[in-house]
Amino acid sequence: MAHPSTVILGTGSYAPPRVLTNEELALQVDTSDEWIRTRTGIRERRIADDAVAASDLAVEAARAAMSDADLEASDIDLLIVATITPDYPMPATACVVQRKLGLRTNSACFDLNAACSGFVYSLDTAAAMLGSGRYRHALVIGVEKMSSIVDWTDRNTCVLFGDAAGAVVMGMSDERGAGLLGTRLGAFGEGTELLWISDGGSRTPITQESFANHSHRLRMKGKEVFKLAVRGMEDACREILEQHHLRADQISLVIPHQANLRIIEAISHYLELPMDRFYINVDRFGNTSAASIPLALDEARRLGRIQRGDLILLVAFGAGLTYGSALIRW
Ligand code: UT7
Repeated sequence: MAHPSTVILGTGSYAPPRVLTNEELALQVDTSDEWIRTRTGIRERRIADDAVAASDLAVEAARAAMSDADLEASDIDLLIVATITPDYPMPATACVVQRKLGLRTNSACFDLNAACSGFVYSLDTAAAMLGSGRYRHALVIGVEKMSSIVDWTDRNTCVLFGDAAGAVVMGMSDERGAGLLGTRLGAFGEGTELLWISDGGSRTPITQESFANHSHRLRMKGKEVFKLAVRGMEDACREILEQHHLRADQISLVIPHQANLRIIEAISHYLELPMDRFYINVDRFGNTSAASIPLALDEARRLGRIQRGDLILLVAFGAGLTYGSALIRW
């Protein structure tokens, strides 16, 4: 019989050391530190070296999470890597990470593509698989090398993103009412083309033309995505709070996807929950997509912002357009 609770046993994160400031970006595209800071809250982001792939970032975060959980590679039997910047179109980056970490051959390894909501989707997937009783410990990683898919000539998008990884180790506990209490996932499929890479898949394989017009790179209709992000994240928070008969002010800390400080401020306003209940690091990392929430979660823990018994709300929004929230009793 399945145990009652799915808990997070350890967290870890990693960001490449190279810092790219707004001032440096302003030398490459027609932008300014002032515009980026006031429109997004971002001051700088991390950029991985050319030779570094998503799996390299993932492995660093995973090692930190396994050490935090006091578990060995041989204890993990499920690995989910949430990413939209895999090392290769195939096979899954999870298999590359499995090899690098020396996980058991009989561990299930796969990637999950839900863009910036990928980590929340993966938490839910891992919890369901652990809850089945067929797996003991899951390693869930959110990782992105966004610098590899951004169009560095497009000021509308290149200023927003950064590279990083975050990871958690999950397991089961007999303690009732602890750990992952619930999730609320969804998607607005009609918004697929608002944030996407149009070329390079089976619909439009890459051609000379793709290269010429940069359509193998990320494109976003920022204003539309902004509005849907605020609505989607607010709804995802409200619905999960309602499901659990909670008021917003009972949440100790919200860890929102870090895309734009103004999105987070809008959610704070609509939920009537002050900004000091939201963990913010978008100023230092920009939008790291699937890595954003686990990176922030790990930082918040290490800074003492999360204590045992706290109610933590994760909320994400991204390409798809996907959204999701997760409620955790730490
Ligand atoms: O992670 C997935 C979810 N992603 C998001 O949630 C991102 C959502 N969108 C946003 O965060 C914002 O829409 C942006 C930060 C992308 C853009 O902010 P905005 O306030 O919506 O600006 P805008 O796109 O309406 O552009 C306003 C002006 C435009 O100039 P005109 O047409 O008014 O002359 C842009 O060309 O700002 C211009 N602009 C820039 N100017 C300087 C756009 N990017 C830049 C830039 N530097 N980097």
